[in-house]
Amino acid sequence: MNVLIIGSGGREHALAHNISASQACSHLFAAPGNPGISQFATCLKLSIDDHDTIIRKCREHDIKLVVIGPEMPLVAGLADVLRKNNILAFGPSASAAKLEGSKFFARDFCRRYQIPQPKFARFTNSQKAKEFVENIGPECVVKADGLAAGKGVVVCRTKRQACEAIDMMLAGGFGDASKTIIVEECISGPELSAFALIDSEVVTWLASARDHKRAFDGDTGPNTGGMGAVSPSPEESIILRDKIMNTILTPLAKGMVLDGTPYTGILYAGLMLTNTGPQVIEFNCRFGDPEAQVILPRLESDLLDLILLHCSHKQESALVNFSDDIAITVVMANKGYPGNYKKDSIITNIDNIPLNAESFIYHSGTGTNQRGQIIAKGGRVFSVTAVAKSYEEARFKAYETILKIQWDNGFYRTDIASY
Ligand code: AMP
Ligand code: GLY
Repeated sequence: MNVLIIGSGGREHALAHNISASQACSHLFAAPGNPGISQFATCLKLSIDDHDTIIRKCREHDIKLVVIGPEMPLVAGLADVLRKNNILAFGPSASAAKLEGSKFFARDFCRRYQIPQPKFARFTNSQKAKEFVENIGPECVVKADGLAAGKGVVVCRTKRQACEAIDMMLAGGFGDASKTIIVEECISGPELSAFALIDSEVVTWLASARDHKRAFDGDTGPNTGGMGAVSPSPEESIILRDKIMNTILTPLAKGMVLDGTPYTGILYAGLMLTNTGPQVIEFNCRFGDPEAQVILPRLESDLLDLILLHCSHKQESALVNFSDDIAITVVMANKGYPGNYKKDSIITNIDNIPLNAESFIYHSGTGTNQRGQIIAKGGRVFSVTAVAKSYEEARFKAYETILKIQWDNGFYRTDIASY
């Protein structure tokens, strides 16, 4: 079967790595892909917002399945358009992807189905939002309702910070995404990301991960899309897994069916493990980036077989095995990220490092210049994954690889998975 992966990040590189290894994959395409992905797939130059061209390319290349990596095309309804055109799509419908596309939708959904979460309210008026802050206390979280590339959340410690965040967002700080905001109670505890495969009421637990969102060591600096990740999360246990399944994932799947918007695809639940149990911080309708770069290397089962069983509503019969190994990934980003950064600096040696199943470099924001050299184009540029029997060994291996790469304009955190 010919398969197309939509996206251009490290997550899509990890998807391409696994899918291309499947016997069922005849030819792999990616749109738009990146230089790393091009080693496994034919990269098609097209805009992922252009649904008509995607359908046309699927027909042209006899593509029968499209795996959608990022949230934007899912929220924009690409999976619906593909299904209408009789092409298999891996990912939720636009109606189900609203769990990520609108924070208010997700909060209201959890409220209706008694899924544990912090107190919250939605506002378009700053005065009312500030009165709510008085109500729940100065420690609160202000969030843009819509998609803001992982940046639309401000955790506030004082009333002043909260008022500034409210004013900034309602004044259009994140464009249309922050015309409506959510103000939430600030909860605390270790964070854990839970990944499940859902087909209507069938929920299959996949794996847990922990993301390192702050830019700098010691969890300091601004929030980023993720500077590193580890899987499984150090907090994962069978008891916790059952609790997350029973109190969050199963009620979610049932509620989406009852609402007439059944969920299909990967669900990534960002959770906080509070004194009273796991509570929902956010839902994402896809694999995480860089979480995919630690979850997929641990998957021993064939990813494409699993996706195909899921798409034909036979997910229950799938065998899903993950290794007990620890995977860690360290992101190398452009100096200045998540703010402004210089583009097109040259990265040397990245292509000459021997790689294998336990050690891999996933490209995200790379490109090539006219001389064929790898250059840095995006904020997060690549991530280095290592798989080993312990956190220490995986850390050692990942940082050993990083030291071999020469890139003057890059930076990375040195404390990923130092538990
Ligand atoms: P989000 O983009 O919603 O995942 O939020 C980014 C980060 O903000 C999360 O990983 C948490 O660390 C923090 N956060 C979000 N919501 C809350 C909350 N209600 N209480 C405490 N921290 C939060
Ligand atoms: N690493 C966070 C995300 O993918 O949303």
